[in-house]
Amino acid sequence: MDVNGKVAIVTGASAGIGLATAKLLSKKGAKLVLAARSKDKLEQLAKELPNSVAVVADMSKVQDVKRMVKQAVKHFGRVDILVNNAGQGYDVRVEKTNPETFRYLFELDVVGPIAAISEVVPLMRKQGGGAIVNVSSGTVLMQLEEMGPYSALKAALAQLSLTAREELKEEKIAVTVVYPYITLTDFEKNTIKDPSMQLQEETIEGQEAWAKADQPEYVAELIVGAVESGKAEVFAHDWMKRR
Ligand SMILES: NC(=O)c1ccc[n+]([C@@H]2O[C@H](COP(=O)([O-])OP(=O)(O)OC[C@H]3O[C@@H](n4cnc5c(N)ncnc54)[C@H](OP(=O)(O)O)[C@@H]3O)[C@@H](O)[C@H]2O)c1
Repeated sequence: MDVNGKVAIVTGASAGIGLATAKLLSKKGAKLVLAARSKDKLEQLAKELPNSVAVVADMSKVQDVKRMVKQAVKHFGRVDILVNNAGQGYDVRVEKTNPETFRYLFELDVVGPIAAISEVVPLMRKQGGGAIVNVSSGTVLMQLEEMGPYSALKAALAQLSLTAREELKEEKIAVTVVYPYITLTDFEKNTIKDPSMQLQEETIEGQEAWAKADQPEYVAELIVGAVESGKAEVFAHDWMKRR
């Protein structure tokens, strides 16, 4: 899909990968619905990007997700692109997982994206097509200690994405899952960390992985490239691909 002139919703547009994606889509001529919880950041961004509107929405709340799509339609009259990017990490051993924290992140990382898909697909169907990109994580391709609950949620999102793709392919709605590698954003700072992990030191492997981290602008290129190509899966690096 050529993004020029298209209406795109980007969730988690206030920071990191979502912010870089919104900027790149705008540069390529898209009209933007900028969604997240940080009102001030979104309003400032909406001033900077032409043809954009800020929508404050907590993606863990289905009512907010529905309102976000309604506001997109009210403002622009259509939705061509949905980037389900908002998310938060959780570093904890499986054994120590707090059920309440896990439930919240399930609402944010899985239910929110499903709710957004449910709202935009009927619109895209009527319009004759669309593009949906779900931002998963490279962690789903590995078994990383202390990342089991987060990876499980992102694996659920990837599986939903691949299945929705099959369900919608006849209707020219392309659904893509993107697997970013470690990316230099505030993600790590915002990750919920189990107290038992606070004193642990970074391993050599961990330090090496961080040294190879990507910039959010690089991941934004992958996400916008996914909208343009309509591919099923986009990996941040070839070595991450499933065998
Ligand atoms: N950075 C990495 O290493 C990495 C690697 C693999 C995958 N990812 C995935 O990439 C996506 C973007 O992450 P990032 O690196 O850009 O992280 P980030 O810098 O922490 O940004 C997260 C974004 O999500 C929004 N968000 C968080 N909770 C929200 C909620 N309840 N409702 C609405 N928006 C919410 C935040 O905005 P507000 O706080 O304003 O709501 C922010 O815009 C996430 O899905 C993450 O899992 C990141």
